[in-house]
Amino acid sequence: MTAIADEVRRRRTFAIISHPDAGKTTLTEKLLLYGGAIHLAGSVKARRAARHATSDWMQMEQERGISVTSSVLQFEYLGRAVNLLDTPGHADFSEDTYRTLIAADSAVMLLDNRKGVEERTRQLFEVCHRRRTPIFTFVNKCDRPGADPLQLLDDVERDLGLKCYPVTWPITSGDRFVGVYNRDTRRIHLFEKGEDHGSSRVETDVVTLDDPDVHERIGDSAYEQLMNDVELLDMAGEEFSPEAFLRGEVSPTFFGSALTNFGVEPFLAKFLELAPSPTSREASTGTVEPEDPHFTGFVFKIQANMDPKHRDRIAFVRVCSGHFEAGMQVKHVRTGKAMRLAAPTQFLARERTHIEEAWPGDVIGIHDRGNLRIGDTLSANGDLEFAGIPRFSPQHFSRILIGDPMKRKQLDTGLQQLSEEGAAQVFYSETYAGTTPIVGAVGQLQFDVLLHRLEHEYGVKARLEPMSYRFARWVLGPEADIRALSGGHGRTLVYDAKEAPLVLFDSEWTLRTTTEREKTLTFHDVAP
Ligand code: G4P
Repeated sequence: MTAIADEVRRRRTFAIISHPDAGKTTLTEKLLLYGGAIHLAGSVKARRAARHATSDWMQMEQERGISVTSSVLQFEYLGRAVNLLDTPGHADFSEDTYRTLIAADSAVMLLDNRKGVEERTRQLFEVCHRRRTPIFTFVNKCDRPGADPLQLLDDVERDLGLKCYPVTWPITSGDRFVGVYNRDTRRIHLFEKGEDHGSSRVETDVVTLDDPDVHERIGDSAYEQLMNDVELLDMAGEEFSPEAFLRGEVSPTFFGSALTNFGVEPFLAKFLELAPSPTSREASTGTVEPEDPHFTGFVFKIQANMDPKHRDRIAFVRVCSGHFEAGMQVKHVRTGKAMRLAAPTQFLARERTHIEEAWPGDVIGIHDRGNLRIGDTLSANGDLEFAGIPRFSPQHFSRILIGDPMKRKQLDTGLQQLSEEGAAQVFYSETYAGTTPIVGAVGQLQFDVLLHRLEHEYGVKARLEPMSYRFARWVLGPEADIRALSGGHGRTLVYDAKEAPLVLFDSEWTLRTTTEREKTLTFHDVAP
C-alpha cells in the first residue's frame, strides 16, 4: 500500500453536533484524554468560564488563544489519526458551525438523556442529513436518571427520521445507573463513579450475562429489566447494516456519561472501527479520490484575527487528496494565481503548531491577507474546483446604521467584502437605492465580529437595529408571484448580494402559512 493510501485509511475526521449543555465540551475533553492529547481533563472549567463571556468575545479570544470559533483537534488513538473538528457552540454559534460539517466525514450526535433532540441538534442534523453524513449517537449524562431509553430513541426516529441502532444499552436499578450492556460482545460494563470526577481514564469491570455474580452485582430487578430490554431489542430483529450507516440512514447508538468517562472508551473503539476514512469528493472535473497523489483542498472557514498586532487571517483548508508538504506551490483556482503555502498551521489540542506535512482528512490553517474566500479550492492538480459551500439561512437580522453618512461607501465596501468572506450575510430591501442594508447571521456573535471588523478594518463605526424576523427562505418561482409576497404581514421580501430574492419571516407560523399557501413558489433554507 502506498504511504498515502495508508494515511487515508487510518484517518477519521468528524464533528460533534449537539445542543448547548448536552456535554460537547466535556466529551471533547474526554476524547482528548483517551487520545493522550491532554493529561488532565481539567481545562473544561476554563473553557466554560470563557464561554459565558458572551458579549466580551475579545476577552474570550485572549483567553482561548487564537480563535473564537475554535479549531481542529488532532489525536492518535489505537493507530488511527483522529481529527475532531470543533463546532462552535453557545454564543459563538455561527455559520462556521454549519460549514465545518461540510469538512467532516462523519458526525457524532450528542444528546442529553433527559432532553433528546433539541433545536440546535435538529439544525445541525439537517446539514449532515442533506450530505448523507454517517452519524453516531451518544446519549450522555446517563450517570443520572433520564428518559426511558426506548422512548428516547423512538423520539429521535420520529423527529429526525434517523433510525438508531443501540450498540450499548443502559442498565438502571430504580434511579441508580448500574452500567451498560454491550450488544456486540454481550457483556455488561459496570459503572463505578470515580473519585476524581472523571479527570482520568476509568477501568471498568466487565461481566458476561451468565456470570454467576451478575445478579448480585447489578441487582435482581435491574437484571430482569435488562433481560426484557435485550429481548425486545433482539426481537426488533434489525441487523446493523454498515451500508445503511454510511448512507446516513442508521445511527449506531451508545449510552454513557462523558463527565464520569463512562462508556467513552467503548464508544471510541467502535467509532474508530465504523467511521469512514476520507472518501472521494465531487469536483468540477469529476470525482477526486483521496489517494490521488496531487494535493487538493478547499477553504471551509476563515478566521479573522482580532488581535490588532496580528492582522492576518487564517483560512482553514480541508485536505481532500494528495500529500501536502509545507512550502508547496498550489493554484488558487478562483483567481488562477499560484500560491506558496509557506507556514501552514495545524491545531493540536489548543496549541497552534507549524506543520511539515498533511494528508487527506487533515485540516491546515493558511495565513492569508484577504485573498481566500469560503469555498475556494487550492489545487496542485490543475483547475478543478470543489462544489462550493452552501450559504445557510440566517436566524438573526438587523439593520445596520452609521452615524456619519459620509462613510456609506466604506460601509458598502466593508459589507461586500465581509459577506464574500462569509462573516455575515447582507441583504437589501426590494426598494434598494442606497437603502439601509440588513445583515443576517446564524449566531449573535457574528454581529459583534462584524461591527468590530467594520470599525478596525474599514474605519466605519456602525450600530445595529435588531429586526424581529427569525427565519429566512430563498424563494424561486415566477417573478410576479415573488413580488406579491412583499406586502404580507409578518414577513418582508429582500435580496441578497447576488440579487437572489429571500423572504424573512417573524414567526414559524407566518413561515408555514406562507410556504403552504404559495403553490407556485418553492422555499429554500440554503441558497439555491
Ligand atoms: P456543552 O459544551 O455541550 O455546552 O456542555 P458542557 O460539556 O459544558 O456540559 C454542560 C453541563 O453538563 C456541565 O455542567 C457539565 O458538567 C454537565 N455534564 C456533561 N457531561 C455530563 C455527564 O455525563 N453527566 C452529568 N451529570 N453532567 C454532565 P455545569 O453545571 O454547567 O458545569 P459544572 O458545574 O459541572 O462545572
